[in-house]
Amino acid sequence: MTKVCIIVGSRRNGNSSHLANILKERLKKERIISNIITPGNQKIYLCTGCMDCDTNGKCDFKDDMSDNIDKVLDASTLIFISPDRWNLLSGDLKIFMDRLNPLFTPKKLEGKKMVSFVIGSEDKEEYSTDATLSSLDSFATASNMDLIYSHQFNNCLEGTDILDKQEEIDTVINELIKLIK
Ligand SMILES: Cc1cc2nc3c(=O)[nH]c(=O)nc-3n(C[C@H](O)[C@H](O)[C@H](O)COP(=O)(O)O)c2cc1C
Repeated sequence: MTKVCIIVGSRRNGNSSHLANILKERLKKERIISNIITPGNQKIYLCTGCMDCDTNGKCDFKDDMSDNIDKVLDASTLIFISPDRWNLLSGDLKIFMDRLNPLFTPKKLEGKKMVSFVIGSEDKEEYSTDATLSSLDSFATASNMDLIYSHQFNNCLEGTDILDKQEEIDTVINELIKLIK
């Protein structure tokens, strides 16, 4: 059975969160189970870089990452939704990614499908979201996941702007569903 984990890089009830909820509903109609994780609204300690997890596959911190890692392991597809932040990846997502390091040495992310969505406030030509997309791409490469789909939504400044892009969202989700089913 296809299981999906949607990881949301913005903690406000804004565009990323709206997109995640729309995605979850559409996936449900296709009988695809998904979990939404919003790291910014969870208790997640910053990775100290101790590297213990490289040898024992475990992190000493007891926080919400234990449950998140179970959900990630259970999913065949990880969908990252990042707001553009200084034309970079959301910090909340970077913190989450660092804490996935226990999965690196045992290669437990390897072979999973990855999808990246980036949401920015400006026109693509005006203020590029390329670096945000490329940092997500780099994470897929480093973790040996298969980046199967990427898309950027532009001109989303106010927290509900993405809701005016229903046609674009529908097209993107239809394309995506074909790839993850
Ligand atoms: C600290 C910060 C930096 C931002 N940097 C950019 C940027 O470089 N380019 C851009 O297009 N939008 C930028 N934005 C705007 C957000 O990407 C945009 O409003 C997005 O829709 C926010 O997603 P959310 O509604 O899910 O929080 C920035 C917003 C914040 C808070």
